[in-house]
Amino acid sequence: MERRGLRLDQIQPSKAISNRREKPHENPKFGASNSRTSINKALARFTATLVPRAEIEVLDLGDYDLSIFSEDLEKEIGQPAAAKAFFKKIGAADAVIVSFAEHNGSYSAAYKNLFDWASRINQKVFQDKPTVFLATSPGPGGAGSVLASAKGSARFFGVDLKAAVSVANFYDVFDAETGRITEASALADLTAAAKALTVREVA
Ligand SMILES: Cc1cc2nc3c(=O)[nH]c(=O)nc-3n(C[C@H](O)[C@H](O)[C@H](O)COP(=O)(O)O)c2cc1C
Repeated sequence: MERRGLRLDQIQPSKAISNRREKPHENPKFGASNSRTSINKALARFTATLVPRAEIEVLDLGDYDLSIFSEDLEKEIGQPAAAKAFFKKIGAADAVIVSFAEHNGSYSAAYKNLFDWASRINQKVFQDKPTVFLATSPGPGGAGSVLASAKGSARFFGVDLKAAVSVANFYDVFDAETGRITEASALADLTAAAKALTVREVA
């Protein structure tokens, strides 16, 4: 088969996410929040369902129990197991979806702490994985400020950023019963982002 390149449209389900393997691919996603009722986790979970035939794994930041990062503590304890486990999860994925909670215009402390620890293992935390960044909040800003930060620094951290979507007024556009985004424009943006994570080898 002659390889002419990769196309992001015309998805062939068996090759969703990556052209490297033919089986469904694992697609970790996480809400960058440690809230049990995280709307960002709900958004990441829903968006992953829009990726054809992906195997999905949800990472809960609450499972990564870490002290607050400091260089002094790092000298004392080295790289904590939780940071290594998180880094390994990303390394094992074919694609990553992150949805950022916005706390006072920036990352949640839980995400930033985990990210700081992971960045000491390797600054390329996202390990060049195809990635979609999302962000949502209950208000009209849609956590756009944290999303802008994440986009602005993505190139330093090994993010192969395929799309970034902010969803405003989360509770107005999300159906809690079905777990789906129902508002047409947000749904279209998320569908396009999910599609951007899928590639197809063209014969
Ligand atoms: C400490 C704190 C600061 C917040 N700051 C912002 C903010 O700057 N912008 C915003 O849109 N929402 C802000 N919020 C509201 C969050 O968007 C809201 O709690 C949202 O549910 C967080 O996402 P999560 O449910 O995924 O954790 C803040 C919430 C908290 C607890």
